[in-house]
Order: sequence, then C-alpha cells, then structure tokens
Amino acid sequence: MLDQNQLKKYNQEHLSEYEKLMSSNEKEKLEAKVNDLDLESIQQLFKDLYINRQSISDVSTVSEVKYQRKSDLTDQEVAKYEHKGLEAIRNGEFAVLLMAGGQGTRLGYKGPKGSFEIKGISLFELQAQQLLKLKKETGHLVNWYIMTSDINHEETLTYFEQHDYFGYNPDNIHFFKQDNMVALSEEGRLILNEQGYIMETPNGNGGVFKSLDKNGFLDKMATDGVKYIFLNNIDNVLVKVLDPLFAGFTVVHDCDVTSKSIQPKDGESVGRLVNQNSKDTVLEYSELDEEVANTFNNANIGIHAFKVGFIKQVVNNDLPYHLAVKNLKQLDEDFGVVEKPTLKFELFYFDIFRYATSFNTLQVNREDEFSPLKNKEGKDSVETATSDLERMNLI
Ligand code: UD1
Repeated sequence: MLDQNQLKKYNQEHLSEYEKLMSSNEKEKLEAKVNDLDLESIQQLFKDLYINRQSISDVSTVSEVKYQRKSDLTDQEVAKYEHKGLEAIRNGEFAVLLMAGGQGTRLGYKGPKGSFEIKGISLFELQAQQLLKLKKETGHLVNWYIMTSDINHEETLTYFEQHDYFGYNPDNIHFFKQDNMVALSEEGRLILNEQGYIMETPNGNGGVFKSLDKNGFLDKMATDGVKYIFLNNIDNVLVKVLDPLFAGFTVVHDCDVTSKSIQPKDGESVGRLVNQNSKDTVLEYSELDEEVANTFNNANIGIHAFKVGFIKQVVNNDLPYHLAVKNLKQLDEDFGVVEKPTLKFELFYFDIFRYATSFNTLQVNREDEFSPLKNKEGKDSVETATSDLERMNLI
C-alpha cells in the first residue's frame, strides 16, 4: 500500500487515483518505485527550480576566463603543442569520452543522434574516422567511452554492430548508460509514462562522471595509465576529436580542466564560459538573460579535457540539478495518452568545474571547429551542418 500520509504531505495523492485503475501487479510495481523515491527532496527540487525559478541576471562576480586565442599562437608554438599532443596520444595518456545520451528532440529524429547520417555518413562515423586516423599517425588506438541512456542504448549498440564499428576494434569501445531522474508535472506531481510506469528521463549529461565510475571505467583508465579524458558532444559536426594541438595544449599546461571555446554570436544558444569566484564555469544559455550573455567572449562548445586524477577525486561530490521543460507524452487520469509540458531535472557536466583548482582555455575559430546539428531547419540545422562539412572537405 502507498502511504497516504506521505502522499498527502508531498502532493502525490493523485497516485492513489491511478492505483484504482491498476491491476495488482501494476500496483505492486508502482508502490515499489514510489517507496524507493525520496519524495521530500523531489518536492524541494520542484520548489527551488520551478516555483522559485530565476534566471541569472546578477553577474557582478563574473569575469572573462583566462584564454589563449589559437590564432595568436606562433608557428613554433603550434608545432610544439602538436608534437607534445601526438607524443601523449602515442603513450596512451588520453581516453576519449563521448556524451551521446541526449534525446535530440529539436532535430525531430527518432534514432540516437549519432546515427543521423549526412550524405551517408553518420555523426558517430565522422568521429570514429578521426580516432582511426590518429591510430595511423601514432600507432595507438585510443579507448573510446560512449555514454548512452535508456532511450537510445540498445539502438546505439545495434547501429555500431551493423556498421562493423566503422572499422574500430570493438574491444576499444566502451558503452555505458547514464542514470535517470523522475520527471514532474507543472503541479509538482509524479507522472506515468505511456507504459504506465513512473516517468523518468535521462539525468542530464552531468551524470557522465558517476556513471563512468560506476561502470569501473575510471579505475580502468587509471590502470591503463590514462592521464586525461577528452570529452565532447555528439552533435558538433566539425568537432576535432582529440586533435593533437589541443591534446598538447592540455598536457603542457596540465590543468584540472582545459576547455575549447569560440567567440559567441549575440543571442546564440550556447553556454558562456566565464570565471566566477576564481573558478571557471559555464553559465548556461537557458538560464541566462540574453543581454548579460552577450557581454561574454567565450562560448562553451562542449569540448574539454579533464585530468583523470581530478575526476577520481571529485566524482562523488554533489552536482546541482537544472530544470528543463519539455512536451512529453504521458497518461492522464483516465489513462489516455496526452502530451504536456513536463519538468525534467538535469545535471550539467560543467558543474564539476567548481571542484577544480586549475583551468585553461583555447579559443578556436568557429568556422573550423563548431557547427552543431540541433534543429531540423534554419540555424544549426541539417542544411548548415551539410554545407559546413562540405566546406571543410569532410564529406
Ligand atoms: C550544450 C551545452 C552548452 C553548449 C552547447 C554547444 C550542456 C548542458 N550545455 O547545450 O553549454 O554551448 O552544448 O553545442 O552541456 N547529453 C547526454 N545526456 C543527457 C543530455 C545530453 O549525454 O541527458 C549529451 C547530448 O547527447 C550532447 C551533449 O550532452 O552530446 C549536449 O547536450 P544538448 O542537450 O545537445 O545540450 P545543448 O542544449 O545543445
């Protein structure tokens, strides 16, 4: 039985109504799940992030990050970094971590975003090819860690199998799933998904480090002698995966966190990389007043390198949740399927920066390194991604 007092206390009485329409088996599952949840913290999150939500407008404590423009590097510096980078890659000092657990709703594509093909080449393949090229150059095949989520794990595995891992050795690809978090209605209530279970959604890309650890991969990296994790998003079609220049820049300065950035455009949907209280951090575009956002010179493009030692030290530290409101299919009180605005709670990977003590940033040219595939049409779309890939002779 669900505890009526608990339900009342935490605004979840509607679950008893649902129970009336359920078989005993379904009831048991619902009760087990609800009893497992920390309803008090869930209500607290709802209040903090939805009822009392605020965008970031006070940026008096925020300043520009310390950054180096790639275009200001001399030829000698470039050569030095590239040489150091290739050497570190050859010595197995880097692992690559791809975050591919997202839903890709804006693109309106059903499968895993990485399986989206442009002129017959998928985003996964575009990235695999670069690591295979590095193998040719260094003799070392980098271990590739790929984070998926419940919504795309099986499909991702199948896609890789069907494509023979794009010529990669499957022993060097390590898939792992991120965790989930419950979603809520705008009234703060738990929701049933189309299958009749309490709705959960992927817990945001900030789940990446804990999930990596839970799967034993941080230990594996340490055993393998990996010193740095190169991290990137799935959807930037111009991403240079573990380019030797950035690898060398990372190794030479040896900071807890090394980031690549670009100069943002006004109003662009990208996080702003800033310094706050002596720590670099990302102020996410969805939480930032546009006018304030436009005052910063560095945009987050989801490309970073982390010291493995740093991540191991802080992996169990707490990260805050952020709110996203998305239209999601769910059951209504009569068990009919409806689509409604739904509160999703997400962790952001860059919140781990707060635990770091050293930072460095390389600002690169957007034209060469950033073209995200986010939308079906218009800005950052299939059309812009295709023309950027063609312009760079990558397809
Ligand atoms: C992200 C960045 C933003 C940056 C922009 C550049 C975050 C929170 N924000 O925004 O600062 O300017 O990219 O393109 O990262 N993902 C998961 N699991 C999840 C959610 C996302 O693995 O639960 C992955 C996605 O597959 C993707 C990456 O994280 O590879 C970024 O997620 P996305 O939702 O595309 O973030 P943006 O809003 O584009």
